[in-house]
Amino acid sequence: MTLHEHDVIVVGAGGAGLRAAIAAHEEGADVAMVTKLHPVRSHTGAAEGGINAALRDGDDWELHAYDTMKGSDYLGDAPAIETLAQDAPEEVIQLEHWGMPFSREDDGRVSQRPFGGLSFPRTTYAGAETGHHLLHTMYEQVVKRGIQVYDEFYVSELAVTDHDDPEDRECHGVVAYDIKSGEVVGFRATDGVVLATGGDGQVFDHTTNAVANTGDGPAMAYRAGVPVEDMEFVQFHPTTLPSTGVLISEGVRGEGGILYNDEGERFMFEYGYASNAGELASRDVVARAELTEVNNGRGINDEYVHLDMRHLGDERIYDRLENIIHLAEDFEGVNPVEEPMPVKPGQHYHMGGIETNENGQTCIDGLYAAGECACASVHGSNRLGGNALPELIVLGARAGHHAAGKDMETAQVPTGPSAKSEDETSLETPVSPGEVGVDDDVVADGGAIADPKAVVENAVERERQRIEELLERDGTNHAEIREDLQKAMTENVNVFRNEEGLKKALEVIRECRERYQDVAVADPSRTFNTDLIHTIETRNLIDIAETITLGALAREEFRGAHWRQEHQERKDDEWLKHTMISWNGGSPDLYYKPVILEGENKEYEPKVRSY
Ligand code: FUM
Repeated sequence: MTLHEHDVIVVGAGGAGLRAAIAAHEEGADVAMVTKLHPVRSHTGAAEGGINAALRDGDDWELHAYDTMKGSDYLGDAPAIETLAQDAPEEVIQLEHWGMPFSREDDGRVSQRPFGGLSFPRTTYAGAETGHHLLHTMYEQVVKRGIQVYDEFYVSELAVTDHDDPEDRECHGVVAYDIKSGEVVGFRATDGVVLATGGDGQVFDHTTNAVANTGDGPAMAYRAGVPVEDMEFVQFHPTTLPSTGVLISEGVRGEGGILYNDEGERFMFEYGYASNAGELASRDVVARAELTEVNNGRGINDEYVHLDMRHLGDERIYDRLENIIHLAEDFEGVNPVEEPMPVKPGQHYHMGGIETNENGQTCIDGLYAAGECACASVHGSNRLGGNALPELIVLGARAGHHAAGKDMETAQVPTGPSAKSEDETSLETPVSPGEVGVDDDVVADGGAIADPKAVVENAVERERQRIEELLERDGTNHAEIREDLQKAMTENVNVFRNEEGLKKALEVIRECRERYQDVAVADPSRTFNTDLIHTIETRNLIDIAETITLGALAREEFRGAHWRQEHQERKDDEWLKHTMISWNGGSPDLYYKPVILEGENKEYEPKVRSY
């Protein structure tokens, strides 16, 4: 059996993974990155708009934190949000020193543009391809430091001890399928494992996310006993191309782009959706406004609205938004310099994820998470545009430093089932999580085994057997299951949600789980077997879809990105709490933990959120 050993193993090589690896290396650790995609092919490369950081006179971290807390609809945890806002400027300056080609003003300063929900134009950017440059800049640092990258290794399970209480468990490494050779191998981490696997947009069928974004990290951590947090909060970006889901950056609106309905009305103002901020209201507000226009018969072709940037002029468009021209032309056949672009909301980002504190720690010793797969609660119920990339670098760095043993301030955000609300009435939900089919073949092993190496070896052997079985037996193809799952999620767990639809989705998800018991891989190849990879990923999508839907059904209020037809107000008395879901042997256990509104210098008082 092949067993690699390093101090710190980082799973995933997008923005958070690269930053975590560099940070761990800075602490002197022997670091390895294990990733199913080559680093510069990571989905961070598709991030267009920018990185929020308070850099200029007139702005400061407290304003950034305030905007973020308001954007979160008061479901973010103040210590995590303040950490994000405080660390972001230093991280951006660090990127600049590493050679990130930021767009600049004539006087040489890094440019900043307005983004939705910001009270100050604090979004730094590199044209409309900020993520691409971010990836390349950090990958260069990884190469320079000689950090080992195992690419085309698909991590499919964690190697965790099986103590009854997840808070007693330890993570000793991961199991990966070597896509090039077909071998199942182990990676032992002597200091820590950092999950940085990115998003899970493939749960939906209209998404800005890459095909690789299948929620691998959250699903693995969840099955290993780490709670997932606030999973019902999914962001639908207001401007995606209707036929593909390709993102058209908020940067277009930041530069002055305008949204029109079929009657040529600037509906954000005309119908009072956001009378002050208009197109630059927070994303949840703009997405609902667009769909309301469509539902009220003012959509174009009953499907989308128009985003017009022609008035910005060629010079500005080519200088700051050139990438948008290529995307609109290549993926929708529209030249936005000459005509408006059709746009509609599409799944873009998941606010929920693996529960961590502001140092990236989960409740399992030695297991960390950072970036979109994690939920340190910096976004609450709605993320502001431009706050994902600082999350990757700030929390990626913190997780990497901590995993490599740096002495850091104790985190203030509690993690693990012991952080449960004292108010046990919160457990009364309108839906019984119920038995969903126990998956004995997964999760932890070796609590009784003292030797960490044996924990990894056992996990490898278990996974090897599972993969052999998938390859050898006959059964259902995963693609049929995945398609039904995505359709049910898109129809019922979208921008507008109601109890009937959510229950319907849950029913389909559970049928998918049943059908998955018989799943088999049609392609018998041992190398580059994408059918096998997608089959493993589909199980992760089922787990993620179920937690999103359960959280959405249980939360009987309207907050941020979570709109409920039957519950049209934010209910702070009852619902100022995080939804937590634990795996509990295959039967989701739903509980809550309080939101922390107490910041360093003030308490954030929930206010009416208008733009
Ligand atoms: O619209 C965008 O460029 C996306 C930015 C983000 O999600 O932060």
